[in-house]
Amino acid sequence: MTAHRFSLLVAMAKNRVIGINNQLPWYLPDDLKHFKSLTMGHAIVMGRKTYESIGRPLPGRMNVIVTRQQHCKIPGALVVSSIESALRVCEEHDATDSGESFIIGGEELYRQTLALSQRIYVTEIQSVFEGDAFFPEIDRTEWIEIERQKRKGKNAEDLEYHFVILDRQSAT
Ligand SMILES: NC(=O)c1ccc[n+]([C@@H]2O[C@H](COP(=O)([O-])OP(=O)(O)OC[C@H]3O[C@@H](n4cnc5c(N)ncnc54)[C@H](OP(=O)(O)O)[C@@H]3O)[C@@H](O)[C@H]2O)c1
Repeated sequence: MTAHRFSLLVAMAKNRVIGINNQLPWYLPDDLKHFKSLTMGHAIVMGRKTYESIGRPLPGRMNVIVTRQQHCKIPGALVVSSIESALRVCEEHDATDSGESFIIGGEELYRQTLALSQRIYVTEIQSVFEGDAFFPEIDRTEWIEIERQKRKGKNAEDLEYHFVILDRQSAT
């Protein structure tokens, strides 16, 4: 049996912005579709603020929400009090043996899980945005780009964005 994989999934601007006022700074329906197709049937782990920004548990996925608030209950989601518990429940509840769970943000969660992850699915938006939440800097020498799909809408003003997959270089 192969080890369960924890992957980070993020959309970020050129200046690493991922959010503003607890919302996404852009509206990119194609990226939301991409997010859905990657995560469907898998566990998704998120910080309490990201959960509030989404506003409801996402269907077809085990929603794991991390908070330090005690006695917090969210119907349709599993609430845990640490990153370690979140990772444990993902492994234990991988009923479909999907083998992969996704850390879906936000900044605080990414910062604490980057070192544990083997893969990053990043939508690189080729523009700068104003924001107050950021994806951490990564050392690109530690990661290999295994895929890059370039996308752009039909209109000149549409955003260009790339669906990229980065895998951590193995130590061997
Ligand atoms: N572009 C993207 O792909 C993307 C994806 C996701 C989110 N975002 C954006 O990111 C922003 C939110 O990020 P954020 O950093 O402010 O918040 P966050 O990471 O979503 O949530 C932070 C909260 O998670 C809980 N938490 C964090 N670490 C914990 C730990 N070790 N143990 C227990 N609980 C822990 C705490 O909840 P309590 O305060 O309840 O204790 C903390 O306040 C928003 O703007 C959102 O739109 C963007």
